[in-house]
Amino acid sequence: MNKTIQIAVVGSGYVGLVAAVCFAEIGHDVVCVDNDERKVAALQSGDTLIHENHLPELLNRYRNTKIRFTTDLGEATRTSDAIFIAVGTPQSENGDADLSYVEAVACEIARSLTSYKVIVEKSTVPVYTNKWIRRAIERNGVARHIFDVVSNPEFLREGTAVSDFLHPDRIVVGADSEAAAELLAAIYAPLTTGAYYAQPNAIPGACTTTTPPPLLQTSTKSAEIIKHASNAFLALKISFINAVSNLCEATDANIEQVARGMGLDSRIGPRFLRPGIGYGGSCFPKDVAAFRSVADGLGVDFSLLTEVEKINVSQKKRFLSKVRTALWTLRGKRLAVLGLAFKGETDDIRESPAIDLVEMLLAEGSSITAYDPAAMKRAQAELPASPQLRYVEDSYAAAKDADALLVLTDWREFATLDLERINTLMRYPIVIDGRNLFDPKTMQQHGFTYLSIGRPAVNPARELESAATVSV
Ligand code: UGA
Repeated sequence: MNKTIQIAVVGSGYVGLVAAVCFAEIGHDVVCVDNDERKVAALQSGDTLIHENHLPELLNRYRNTKIRFTTDLGEATRTSDAIFIAVGTPQSENGDADLSYVEAVACEIARSLTSYKVIVEKSTVPVYTNKWIRRAIERNGVARHIFDVVSNPEFLREGTAVSDFLHPDRIVVGADSEAAAELLAAIYAPLTTGAYYAQPNAIPGACTTTTPPPLLQTSTKSAEIIKHASNAFLALKISFINAVSNLCEATDANIEQVARGMGLDSRIGPRFLRPGIGYGGSCFPKDVAAFRSVADGLGVDFSLLTEVEKINVSQKKRFLSKVRTALWTLRGKRLAVLGLAFKGETDDIRESPAIDLVEMLLAEGSSITAYDPAAMKRAQAELPASPQLRYVEDSYAAAKDADALLVLTDWREFATLDLERINTLMRYPIVIDGRNLFDPKTMQQHGFTYLSIGRPAVNPARELESAATVSV
């Protein structure tokens, strides 16, 4: 029988809100705290504020029963056994993670600590943050024996956040005290025992009653490093495959074949080997910079990470020159842009390579008609509509009269577009695909000139040939 635990989650961003709702889903009583009154009011009324599969359904199921929202951190602290800190750790100017929100929350928690509580760092933080949180709380006059600070990093991805949380590859608990480790083990017991997966309405995913996720207990410092190292390694994998895709372009090889051949080696694995226009989002760019900065601060040479960043930046520039190769000049050209989010199935545009490219293309004097299935509102707030930049209601409206169509985000719906219709709508049937969503042969059969990443370009009704020989 799993125990119901009183949990507070501080911060209702991607990590905080998803964790709060999922803790309710596995049987705990949750209070989610945010200092933004408007956010709290929206969440209380059932608005999830972010585009995330399963989230509306779970929020509706538990709202006002197993999950409530408040701005009162003191009250939430007093009524909870475990307090998860899931506030933002943005990048500061020198690349370090800005921990001022974490510190402010730790100090506020300290003011309400009167009985034993476990404070859990869920935000992505550099090594030693656990120690700093502990110090901040002690400096506020709290006796050491009435609290512990645990590191419990989160590995969810935007777009699949709920199922990633409930079906994790692993749960990492960095704890330097047995009491704290036991409480965390009890919180995750519905997952680690497999009990959750036996429920008839459990959210589906990779874990089952017989293959539940493992819980790895480590020191607090190891847990902190695991999170940064995992994100940095995934970013490295992407930059590596992007560099290999450039080699493929230079040799007329095919990156899809190369990535498949590499990924079949179980030591390498097939995931995160998709080439493209570089990684973006609120995590990889910030976390690679923060991890590099941690290494610098400790006098450890980790210049490998600088190369990872360099390849990522140059990938966008390469795409821009690919557009130039196809169109010759960009001034006055009408470009259809499909995708603005940093990846498919999310409305998030933070550090989106698609947004960066739109800015670069506008600066070169082209005019753009853009469409994204979910990120248009956010994109318009960042890049307001103008005579040079129009936002339209679907991919077909974007393609109308375009000199070329650029695919910048890997939305599933783009892969199933009616290619014949797109072709007849465009002024010139040229597609430049930054996400390798289409099969070059199919594009050729549909009469397109098609350029993608790390694969030979094709012209209509001609044999496969190299990007270098494309003449438009
Ligand atoms: C990432 C990690 O994948 C999560 O494990 C982690 O918990 C999260 O950061 C975080 O630290 O909060 P996320 O930023 O949601 O998750 O997105 P990813 O799916 O990892 O994609 C990141 C970027 O890499 C996107 O721009 C995506 O298009 C790009 N990408 C990903 C590629 O270019 N190629 C790939 O093969 C995979």
